[in-house]
Amino acid sequence: MTHSLRIPDLTIPARPARAGWPVGVGPGDAGDPAVNDVDVIRVPGEARLAGTVHVVGAKNSALKLMAAALLAPGRSVITNVPRITDIAIMGEVLRRLGCVVRFAADDPVDPMVARGGVERSRSVVIDVPEQPGAEADYDLVRRLRASICVLGPLLARRRYVRVAHPGGDAIGSRGLDMHIAGLARMGAEISGEHGFVIAEAPDGLYGADILLDFPSVGATENLVMAAVLARGATTIDNAAREPEIVDICTMLNRMGARIEGAGTSTLHIAGVPELRPVRHATVGDRIVAGTWAFAAAMTRGDVTVTGVDPAYLEVALDKLVSAGGLVETRGGAFRVRMDDRPKAVDVVTLPFPGFATDLLPMAIGLAAVSDGASLITENIFDGRFMFANEMMRLGADIRTDGHHALVCGHDRLSGAPVRATDIRAGAGLIIAGLCADGVTEVSHVHHVDRGYPDFVADLRALGVEVERGTAPEEPDLAI
Ligand code: EPU
Repeated sequence: MTHSLRIPDLTIPARPARAGWPVGVGPGDAGDPAVNDVDVIRVPGEARLAGTVHVVGAKNSALKLMAAALLAPGRSVITNVPRITDIAIMGEVLRRLGCVVRFAADDPVDPMVARGGVERSRSVVIDVPEQPGAEADYDLVRRLRASICVLGPLLARRRYVRVAHPGGDAIGSRGLDMHIAGLARMGAEISGEHGFVIAEAPDGLYGADILLDFPSVGATENLVMAAVLARGATTIDNAAREPEIVDICTMLNRMGARIEGAGTSTLHIAGVPELRPVRHATVGDRIVAGTWAFAAAMTRGDVTVTGVDPAYLEVALDKLVSAGGLVETRGGAFRVRMDDRPKAVDVVTLPFPGFATDLLPMAIGLAAVSDGASLITENIFDGRFMFANEMMRLGADIRTDGHHALVCGHDRLSGAPVRATDIRAGAGLIIAGLCADGVTEVSHVHHVDRGYPDFVADLRALGVEVERGTAPEEPDLAI
């Protein structure tokens, strides 16, 4: 059965039209842009960011926390959930599974609201039925790869689940083999059919010793969610250690799960017969915080970021210090100031606590305006450099070879029309545009709305007059 996607609740009022610059949809609107129109952000060059920005909850945690709510019938409430498109789609995934999902004003309220801005976080109230559905269709999974994280909780509760295979995307191939091998070790039978992954465990899942080939974030989350209700004990070795893993384990333990070792490479999970609903606040978004940190450094600005523990960004902030920045950390806040042209630094992406792959476009942007040559190495996604061509349109000097990019810095980039290809590439291009001479127009910024609650409002709060609107889609005729 096909359903048309309706995503209520998250619409931000459209901004007033400007002459020759039509009104666009606001961030958080979940629909695709109108046919033949794309959303565009126009960035003035030679900008300097200064001020304070508050970062709300992490997309990559909130999505999984919403899936984890499926593990207990009753009402769970997740607060500090970012007001972004991906969350709206996840709400729709849960609705299709029979949950009642409501977005409410956040508690505590996003500080941006107190400054007269639109709220960037919400609370999500999820009423989970005794018997949730067991299918996630391709029309939703293609819009939100993270829908695959319902696999573990639904298998645990329903003993049968059918989820569309997400396929690859603009940052590379995205395998599921570790999810599947881990669930198989816990007694599931997994098959593939007509583009779906089908997992069955008629007698329920049982505890197992699982060694992941790679500390996959998604596989760790799916396996933890399956193991908490399995019979017996599960050990996951070479588990991911990201703060988002700690967040979901904290929530699950508060639901009655027995997980030890969150934040280390070995998770021990003692299965329990049932879990109870919970109220939980999402951990702050370290990738959004890191984006502002790099933006401050690249624009030779002075930005204070609140809402995220700077310990989650230790390697990234250390790179900014090596580049000549001044970084001060204070409790749940940090400040980045860069007075002179940044110095070139090499960056290697790695699983946490290494340098996050989601900050790679920002690292390339920094390198593009730094004094000297930087070697940037990507170890997580095979297609992450695909956006480098767009950065080159801004005059960046980038040579890629496999998973390495050599970037020779120029004092200034050169404003041009460019296209966002994924969430982080879009944010990276907007920030690079701030360091260009002339205007940069970044199109397809609906990608940015998938991960940043109100990028334009935050940029304005930091002193840059960016504009948002729509523009006709140019047909891509190049071969
Ligand atoms: N992989 C496999 N087999 C598997 C699982 C993963 O080969 O069974 C490979 C992937 O293809 C990839 C690598 O392992 O090359 C890492 O994948 P991982 O499972 O760690 O990533 P993910 O769970 O798919 C999450 C975030 C990404 C973030 C990565 C790495 C969500 C929704 N997504 O993806 O975030 O880059 O972890 O930290 O949590 C983003 O927010 O823009 C984004 C892409």
